[in-house]
Parts: sequence; structure tokens; C-alpha cells
Amino acid sequence: MPVTVVLGTQWGDEGKGRIVDFLSGNADVVARFGGGANAGHTVRVGDKTYKLRMVPSGIVAGVEHCIIGPGTVISPAALTAELDTLEYNGVDISRLWISDLAHLIMPYHIELDKSAERERGRDALGTTGNGIGPAYVDRVARIGIRAGDLRDLRRCRQTLFARAQSLRGQGIVLDLDSAMADLDRHAQRMLPHICDTVALLHDDLKADKRVLAEGAQGSMLDVNLGTYPFVTSSETVAGGACAGLGFGPKEVDHVVGVVKAYATRVGGGPFPTEQQNEIGEQLRKRGSEFGTVTGRPRRCGWLDLVALRYAVAVNGITHLAITKLDVLDTLYELSVCTAYEESASGDSLPFVISRGATPVWKTRPGWLKPTVTARNWEDLPRNARDYIEFVEEFVGVPAAYVSVGPERSQIIVRPNAPLMPLVHTR
Ligand code: IMP
Repeated sequence: MPVTVVLGTQWGDEGKGRIVDFLSGNADVVARFGGGANAGHTVRVGDKTYKLRMVPSGIVAGVEHCIIGPGTVISPAALTAELDTLEYNGVDISRLWISDLAHLIMPYHIELDKSAERERGRDALGTTGNGIGPAYVDRVARIGIRAGDLRDLRRCRQTLFARAQSLRGQGIVLDLDSAMADLDRHAQRMLPHICDTVALLHDDLKADKRVLAEGAQGSMLDVNLGTYPFVTSSETVAGGACAGLGFGPKEVDHVVGVVKAYATRVGGGPFPTEQQNEIGEQLRKRGSEFGTVTGRPRRCGWLDLVALRYAVAVNGITHLAITKLDVLDTLYELSVCTAYEESASGDSLPFVISRGATPVWKTRPGWLKPTVTARNWEDLPRNARDYIEFVEEFVGVPAAYVSVGPERSQIIVRPNAPLMPLVHTR
């Protein structure tokens, strides 16, 4: 069973990109299963930093196939710009494959996203403004354009013509000629990469290739299981990997849940462990917590173990990857949320959180020592190991990877980790 799913357990920005990059050294295929250019995955190799939005993080490590799956929504403009940047930086993009079933984000989706946010006023969701929600709405309404449609631009024009009528009612004027000219230009760039990725992936699975399914956003932003309506519009959980790439759950042998050693959230919505105080400031500063896509300062707070335990359950997480442990190095004492006062209400967790959950805290001693040079579990200060063991025990799964800095070399691999040993060709 060769698929490992790597996904976020919180509200996104857990550091999935770098964990995927790290594990790519031992994978043949990396495949993105949901979301679009709302994601911002940062991969740092030596003195080079790659900021990826649509292209799977495995492209940097040079895996055999990088797949943008059927469950994603693709902005042709954003994708072609990303491909140009990658090529400029010497990354080989010939191994990138785009599903013909993936839906396209058109400029009017971005306009619709922004106008919906404006209309919501103070209740705005704080979307990334990339047209994600409206593109998924069109998919469900069965009026979307798919990547495979770029092979028949006449048909695209007909679809856009029909769409222009309904958009007019929403106050959006669609200039058909200019939209088609853009689409034509982007199609030239994308078509060599567009294929039946479901067939490609199944051939890879049959050949026993090791596949990493790369999640975007986090479990608490999942459209079904997250803190609705303050969520994204796709399935971000492990089940989304199957649906978004086109394989069955039997193919999955590991689910790696990436979790920051504390918690962050961008955009609106409830965040029980948020610290709007000196601690939050300190975490933001030390963790450089500013959005990769929008540059917005992230809201920061303590680790929420109730939400993490929920993420472990809904995803079937087998291993944790704990990131940014070093950000906590200077704190004298740490708090973690181990219950909500309202936990016994009988409501499901997203409802409890939405109604304003009050955390019950447990404090843990800090370690007040730098961890950035630790390369083995034993190199970590005793209190740092205790903190991680407390998390493992609470949620019931082991932490296989612990990161203490942005470099590939700054990831501690525990003996229980799946996907070893690691060999990077790039
Ligand atoms: P959308 O996905 O742009 O529609 O935004 C919906 C919500 O998900 C907003 O709160 C965003 O801030 C959040 N979001 C979307 N993508 C990411 C991400 O990659 N990291 C963190 N938050 C995200």
C-alpha cells in the first residue's frame, strides 16, 4: 500500500510544504488533492526559498511525477506565473501533470469572491481572495470549465457565453474576446502538462511507486468537518485525498498529520486558544507568522489538543510531524488546551468551537535552550521532549518528525517514522 497522505491538522500554515519536500526524497510521486492558489507552501533548500501555490512541493526534490489532481481548482494565470518562476529558478517542470478533470478559476470567480466578502462586511470570512469558493460553487452547479476543456476552446467560448448572461445579473461584465484571448494564451502553456492523472496515478500504484498525497490548508478549514462557515471550500481531510485524486482508501498506509508546536489562524472565525497579548506577539515575531499568499499577520495562540485529537480521529492520522518547535525556545512556561468548558454539551466539536469554546489549560515548563541545532531526539532538552510526549499521549499517535528550523537538515526523524531513509537528489 504505497500512499502516504500528508495533511494539516490545524487552520493551515502548519508547514506541510517542507514536510512534503523532506519526504519527497523517498517518494516517486507527489500529488496535490485539493484547493488552489489559496495555499502557500514554502520550501527552503540551502540559500534558496521556493514559494509554491499550486505546484506540489515534490517538484523541488525532483520526484518522477508531480500531479495536480482532479479535486483542485486551478487559476491558469496563477499557475503559468508559478511555472515561469520555477523555470527561472532552474526547476525542471517537465514532470508536472495537471488533471484534465481539475476545474479552472476564471477572473470572474475572483471578482465574485471579493464582492461576496465585501457584502459580508464585518462577518467576512477573510478568504484569500483567489476565487476558490466561487470556482467550487460552479463545479457543484455543473457550470464550470475544466482543464481538459482547454483542448476545445470553441466549447469554452460557448460555456463562457452562457456564463456571461448570468454574471451580468450579478453586476459582472465578462468581455468574451479578452477572456478567450487569455485562456488561449494560458492553454498553450498548460496543455503539454494536462493529462488523465487518474490513469497515470493508477499506473504508478500498480508499479508499486511510492506516492505522497499533499494536502492544502488544514483539517479545521475542511468544508464539512471544519469550523464552518469559516472554512475553505474543499475537503482538506484524508478522505479528500482519495476523492481528489481518484484512488480508494485501501491504497493508503500512512497519514502524517502536520501540526505546529503552537497554533495559528489567518482570516476570520473562532480560534479558542488565540492569544491576543504579548504571548501572541512573541509567537508571531519568532515564528514569522505572516501569510505566504496574502502577507496578512497570522493570529497566534497555544496548541489546542482538543482540536488536534479531533483531527487525528477524522483523518485516521498514524504519525504526527511537529513543526516550529524552536519558536517556543524562549518561553518560560507553555500552555496547552486539554478540554473546553463546553465539551459536555453534546454538540460536535466544530459547533462547540463556533459557539465560543473556553479552553481548559494545562501548563508545561519551557526549556529556555535553543533547539535549532538538535539533529536527534536525544539532542532536544528534556522539557522539549516532555512537551512532545505529552502531546503524543494526549492524542494517541506518535510524533515521527520534529522540525526545529526551516532547513531540510533541521528535521529530527524518530525511529518509528514511515518513509526512511531519505535521499535527496536535489
Ligand atoms: P479561501 O480558501 O480563499 O476561500 O479562504 C477561506 C478561509 O480559509 C480563510 O479564512 C482563509 O484565510 C483560509 N485559508 C485558505 N487557504 C489557506 C492556507 O493555505 N493557509 C491558511 N489559511 C487558509
